[in-house]
Amino acid sequence: MDVLLLGASGQIGRRIANELLDRGHAVTGVSRSGEVDVEGDEFEAVAGDATDPDEVADLANGHDAVGSALGPPADEDPEVFVPMTEAVLDGLRRSDVDRLVWTGGAGGLNVGPDRKLIDDDEFPDDLVPLAQAHIDALDRIREADDLEWSYLAPPMVIEPGERTGEYRTAVGDLVVDDDGDSHVSMEDFAVAFVDELEDADAVHTQLGVGY
Ligand SMILES: NC(=O)c1ccc[n+]([C@@H]2O[C@H](COP(=O)([O-])OP(=O)(O)OC[C@H]3O[C@@H](n4cnc5c(N)ncnc54)[C@H](OP(=O)(O)O)[C@@H]3O)[C@@H](O)[C@H]2O)c1
Repeated sequence: MDVLLLGASGQIGRRIANELLDRGHAVTGVSRSGEVDVEGDEFEAVAGDATDPDEVADLANGHDAVGSALGPPADEDPEVFVPMTEAVLDGLRRSDVDRLVWTGGAGGLNVGPDRKLIDDDEFPDDLVPLAQAHIDALDRIREADDLEWSYLAPPMVIEPGERTGEYRTAVGDLVVDDDGDSHVSMEDFAVAFVDELEDADAVHTQLGVGY
């Protein structure tokens, strides 16, 4: 597969790029600067702005799929993530690619009947704006039934760690382990992400990922 990866320079994006390369796929990795710290014969780093639909379309053309590990820049209001998401969706519509696998947020996952993680008393106040931006972005993605999107949401905690190849998924729900912890390594999240790119088991679905 020939994959355009938006957000390839990010913490999660770099691991998705490496997982794709390890499985023999070709990756075009996008960052604003064009610098991406990933090595490989089948890897090309390019500069691009995900807030510009025409640029996204030009970058996407000729690929089999687009992956996103985009996030709002740390020095900007998290709400910029919503127009960025709209620009990526519009860009895909202007391109010859209709497959999109997205890295989302945990806050919009269900933790009980009609209750999302963001509404939990213990959800950190400082993460609410980012979590809300992810929920608003997911609303836009859900409207894109003309695209073959899949939305993979990390659990509460996702950190650099080990690649075990093990993970569980739940449609719309936060994944929590037997000890009540909701976590995954970024490496195993990348495994889940690339599995979805290869298998397309969760098209038009918000999927929680965790151990
Ligand atoms: N528990 C959770 O819900 C949870 C936990 C962790 C992460 N996440 C989400 O997962 C996603 C990835 O996280 P991360 O930690 O890997 O983020 P990160 O390290 O901040 O990476 C963000 C990526 O987005 C790119 N980007 C930002 N604005 C751009 C633009 N206008 N055009 C092109 N690229 C742009 C950055 O590229 P540059 O090099 O150009 O800056 C970078 O590659 C984020 O959406 C984050 O919120 C969720």
